[in-house]
Amino acid sequence: MYTTGIKHELMDHIDPVLFDDEQIAKRVREIGEQITTDYIGRDLVLISILKGGVIFTSDLSRTISIPHQLEFVGSSSYKRGNSPSGGVRITKDVDQDLEGKDLLLIEDIYDTGNTLYVIHELLKLHRPASIEICALLHKKKNHIHQLKMTYIGFEIEDQFVVGYGLDYQELYRNLPCIGVLKPEIYS
Ligand code: IMP
Ligand code: MG
Repeated sequence: MYTTGIKHELMDHIDPVLFDDEQIAKRVREIGEQITTDYIGRDLVLISILKGGVIFTSDLSRTISIPHQLEFVGSSSYKRGNSPSGGVRITKDVDQDLEGKDLLLIEDIYDTGNTLYVIHELLKLHRPASIEICALLHKKKNHIHQLKMTYIGFEIEDQFVVGYGLDYQELYRNLPCIGVLKPEIYS
């Protein structure tokens, strides 16, 4: 299951594994090939959303065979009162003017949609040629913001998952697979 052969200590906290490293690599490659086809001749910039989207972005970028740039946007979500949706704070803006460029937002997971909505609005101000979204995971639930996902890695149920960039209290991002965090870890 793990081509690296590394026994990650925190794997004991995961049950079940939803997607192992080989399944992820295969799917990432498929998406990369699709993006390559769709963006030939265009001025593509991948906009990676920190921090959860970084591992996905770095793998995806290397499966895209046309020239493209990388940019990073930092975001952090917080709970507003007892509302489940909360707000989103931008912690890092892009480093260049993106006017006329073809932007592809790379996010770890489409959950409520708050993060993607706020960053999408921010990027529109640059007057890019286009903005599309690529999310590694799509949680099947009623999203607060309905957004068009041009590329989706995998659909999952509405449960808390970690690994391959996704964290719980800033840990688990380095796990090569994606899995459900055992409820006893956070309860
Ligand atoms: P949003 O609710 O769609 O704005 O998602 C905000 C952020 O919450 C995502 O970018 C993830 O970093 C994080 N998140 C949402 N669901 C999960 C999960 O199941 N595991 C880990 N992080 C999650
Ligand atoms: Mg997080």
